[in-house]
Amino acid sequence: MSNPLPYLDALGITPWQRRDKPLSSAATHLEEPAPVVAAEAPSTTATALPTSVSHPQNETPVSTLVAPPLKTHFQEEMPALDAPPDYLNIPDTAFDDRFEPLLPEDDEPYVPEPMLDPKQVRAQNIQQLDWAGLQKTVEDCRDCALHTHRTQTVFGVGAVPARWLIVGEAPGHDEDLQGEPFVGRAGQLLNAMLQAVGVKREQVYIANTVKCRPPQNRNPEALEMETCAPYLQRQIALIQPQLIVLIGRVAVQQILHSEEAIGRLRGTLHQHAETGTPVIVSYHPAYLLRRPTEKAKTWLDLQLAYRTVTPLK
Ligand code: URA
Repeated sequence: MSNPLPYLDALGITPWQRRDKPLSSAATHLEEPAPVVAAEAPSTTATALPTSVSHPQNETPVSTLVAPPLKTHFQEEMPALDAPPDYLNIPDTAFDDRFEPLLPEDDEPYVPEPMLDPKQVRAQNIQQLDWAGLQKTVEDCRDCALHTHRTQTVFGVGAVPARWLIVGEAPGHDEDLQGEPFVGRAGQLLNAMLQAVGVKREQVYIANTVKCRPPQNRNPEALEMETCAPYLQRQIALIQPQLIVLIGRVAVQQILHSEEAIGRLRGTLHQHAETGTPVIVSYHPAYLLRRPTEKAKTWLDLQLAYRTVTPLK
């Protein structure tokens, strides 16, 4: 090959030099390699392997090759500076002016707005709803996993306002299909119990602690009850009952926040903490279907309820 140096120079490429030879126009790594000694044709008889192969690149170890210092256009054009440029000498305080408008006018320490608890905000919003708004919100509710199992929500049924509010547990199979609480076997027993003390179903309001049917009629879980609680609280505020009758443990847990057994709570007046409304506790009709001998106690409980607040005739 003829001398490539002018060509490489024009392209801005600096060739490597060999340390052991002075730089000359022909002495670069781009030299024509010396002809390689052709390896002998493989023979069919076993021969000893060569201990080294003659090759021009093997003659000079790579470690002896050095690169000339890199020279860039940038380096060539940079003027030498005796001192740092002016913009590096601007004092930090010069920037303060730019940030001053962001500081409060007076020297009062900045106090951030308190973080709002999303659950509280949701409960507060529910407490603002009117009856129709509450019904619609419950109908559209997807705030807990129970909505995935329901056919429809079961809001409640009865008079508004009403003197008695009866609170059960959760919709069952029949209630989920019909969209009304206590319409199955337990509901029929509840109607009969009310009739026994001279009260018609239409005279009271009947609701549940949760508005959707739990799968396989299991008890509602704590989170489901907590999520649904603001709906019942708003119902209480709008129905303005003079007496709340809790039937079953789940309703007791929700309204009285108590884990006590019904047997220990029934027979006396309790109070709904949020409104001060008197509360009476009794057994759930589904329990009475399994334990009919307890029905007499429920009759006594409803008589106590009647004496405490007479429902409108
Ligand atoms: N049991 C309840 O607690 N509520 C209903 O609505 C039906 C059965």
